[in-house]
Amino acid sequence: MRMIVDTDAGVDDVQAIMMALNHADTEIAAITCVTGNTHVDWVTRNVFAMLDVVGAGPIPVFRGAEQPLLPGTWTGEARVHGEDGLGNYTKRQPTARQLQDEPAALALVRMANEAPGELTLVTLGPLTNVALACRLDPEFPHKIARFVFMGGAELAMGNTNNLSAEFNVYCDPEAAAVVLDAFPEAEMLSWEATVRHPFTWEQYETLAAGTSRAAEFFRDTTGSAVQFLREQLHAPGFYIPDPLAMAAALEPSLVEESSFHYVAVETRGALTRGQTVVDHFGASGRSPNVHIIKAIDIATIYAMFEQMLS
Ligand code: BDR
Ligand code: CA
Repeated sequence: MRMIVDTDAGVDDVQAIMMALNHADTEIAAITCVTGNTHVDWVTRNVFAMLDVVGAGPIPVFRGAEQPLLPGTWTGEARVHGEDGLGNYTKRQPTARQLQDEPAALALVRMANEAPGELTLVTLGPLTNVALACRLDPEFPHKIARFVFMGGAELAMGNTNNLSAEFNVYCDPEAAAVVLDAFPEAEMLSWEATVRHPFTWEQYETLAAGTSRAAEFFRDTTGSAVQFLREQLHAPGFYIPDPLAMAAALEPSLVEESSFHYVAVETRGALTRGQTVVDHFGASGRSPNVHIIKAIDIATIYAMFEQMLS
């Protein structure tokens, strides 16, 4: 599988990309960066830091949108990801890696044209870059083989100040609306699916106690997220939204249950801007466009983490 990863890295984003790097049958053709958890300039640095830690080969990295399509709601997510987007990571080393000159949206369009029907697109952040690609080339979505995204809330149980909206969609609701409208089919890993599939705290501690460079990086970058999850959310375990979406992309057989619905994005609601609105009962008469992942094999995903961090 050849994959493009679009990311706002992000603590769980870098874990997800490490999973893809560690997957035998997957090649990352490009990483495109977008503002979300933190500003895109931190995102590119975070991606480079992770690639250096795991000793990845030369992967083209593109800088993308530095703000949502419409200004207004983006504030970053420093509570979870730290000011730098990587848990206030203090062990950064100088990197020899360089950004590509091409803007991310142009690169998405070009790569889809070079290999129509071949690329899997996995998005781990706001959908700004992908929306721009859809507007640049209306055929872009039809040239992508599979589109898997972390985002949305299937039952309106969000994780932002707009209570029914999930973070990635809330950051750029117009972009999410454009993308869901443009892609014939997508696979969605929602916030509620994230909450249903945590690692236990014991599992987190085991992973964080590893001695490899990757395990040390995992430990060094997850402190702020763990503090937020334990002290603010009182979460039952360690949430891994982006790795769950990546797992579904890498190994479709890990998805144990999904259902296919029409999904659109609310862009105007006074209380609900950024909510994903799901036609659960087919009432709209609109054709389904999103496979909503309900259950995924978390035991196997934990085993993938153990192997990745060993
Ligand atoms: C999503 O928002 C970000 O904080 C995470 O990286 C994930 O992509 C979860 O709502
Ligand atoms: Ca993310």
